[in-house]
Amino acid sequence: MNEKATLLVGGKSYELDVITGTENEKCIDIQDLRSRSGYITMDPGYGNTGSCFSSITYVDGTNGILRYRGYPIEQVAEKASFVEIAYLILYGELPKPRRMKAFSEALNEHAALHTNLEHHFSGFPKDAPPMAILSAMLNLVACFHPEVLEVHADGPEFDRTAALLLSKVRTISAFAYRMATGKPFNHPNPNLSYCANFLHMMFSEPYQDFVASPVVERAMNLFLVLHADHEQNCSTSTVRVVGSSRANLFSSVAAGVCALWGPLHGGANTGVIKMLEDIKASGKSITSYIDMAKDKNSTFRLMGFGHRVYKNFDPRSIILKKQVHDVLQELHLDDSLLEIALELEAATLNDDYFLSRHLYPNVDFYSGILLRAIGIPLNMYTVMFAIGRMPGWISNWKELHQHNQRISRPRQIYTGYTERPFVPTAER
Ligand code: ACO
Repeated sequence: MNEKATLLVGGKSYELDVITGTENEKCIDIQDLRSRSGYITMDPGYGNTGSCFSSITYVDGTNGILRYRGYPIEQVAEKASFVEIAYLILYGELPKPRRMKAFSEALNEHAALHTNLEHHFSGFPKDAPPMAILSAMLNLVACFHPEVLEVHADGPEFDRTAALLLSKVRTISAFAYRMATGKPFNHPNPNLSYCANFLHMMFSEPYQDFVASPVVERAMNLFLVLHADHEQNCSTSTVRVVGSSRANLFSSVAAGVCALWGPLHGGANTGVIKMLEDIKASGKSITSYIDMAKDKNSTFRLMGFGHRVYKNFDPRSIILKKQVHDVLQELHLDDSLLEIALELEAATLNDDYFLSRHLYPNVDFYSGILLRAIGIPLNMYTVMFAIGRMPGWISNWKELHQHNQRISRPRQIYTGYTERPFVPTAER
């Protein structure tokens, strides 16, 4: 029997459908509640609102579960390449060798930027935030490929557009860094893996090619895999909202980049390192920072702590914490920020404020230390997140079109003036 919910309001009773997902998640369908009753629901920040049906990624925040298309993040992180995970997220299945080869070739084919696009980088001030450059350049790339302005959520046109975006985001990001440091651009090398190619574009010099060590390449691959998708987070929801107006894929993901930039979302990976550096430089105790985070008169928050969905632990943070240790060891590096991070985490685990609010390290807490170890500059951390999240954004954009999702248009409860007569300037 189909489960139903009953809402009693305004002296009337309304029967509402209950929808159950494949993991037994339940929701009450209120789509026609307003037209039937005149009532809307209120949920600022959408903490309790299902905005779509999706078969891409499953998150169980209570039990720390994250799966891409059914595959547990722990297995994926250990075994998969970012390119095959991008394919999985986009197309729903792991690629067979032939498909994998074709997909990799498509990424290589689209890696280079149109040469007329290159001079646009020099129009940015040298200290322009790379996230601003990335967002702007994504829209600009689309101008050089007018065919991608057409909305295709399936078929060869979509495949081409998705490959173009997945590949060019990496080139744009590396070029933004080269421009900021006043260095010549390094063009993509089709003989390198996705990660090694990015590192080459970032760090090769005219006098010496940068050859990524297997440890560094593996660490970057892991970082990207762990960030590949995370269901309806702030940036992905942004991509969906923008895409719901039938805006093209490039403008939709450019908006996603802007949402990711914020310090409460992807920008937190930069915030964590700045916070740890600040703790180190200040010579103040860990306790004083924890006290500041707890102080309701202060706007300071412990960066890299807390999550809207994970209320026990973030599985990505557990994986990253272990990998950071291994990578530092393999690279014979000793990072004092890791010691501070471990101390900070340990202190919060004994603190009722953090325990009672279920505030644990999230994906951003240890990722910055990993990026630091492999030589990524601090202002590029959130850009790295954006490269990693691209498969999730593209796939959610595709899915919303496949589901023919209605334009996003939330309601509000108006709390302003009721009607009043206009006052001419002279009488004010
Ligand atoms: N430090 C101190 N207190 C915190 C923190 C923190 N990092 N995070 C949440 N809290 C407190 C809030 O002050 C609030 O306390 P109250 O109940 O006494 O008012 C309570 O915990 C609940 O916090 P909310 O802000 O309501 O939680 P929400 O789900 O809206 O926000 C968020 C989640 C944005 C991640 C928040 O925990 C935060 O700001 N964390 C720091 C920034 C961060 O690390 N962001 C990355 C998130 S992961 C990602 O986007 C990839």
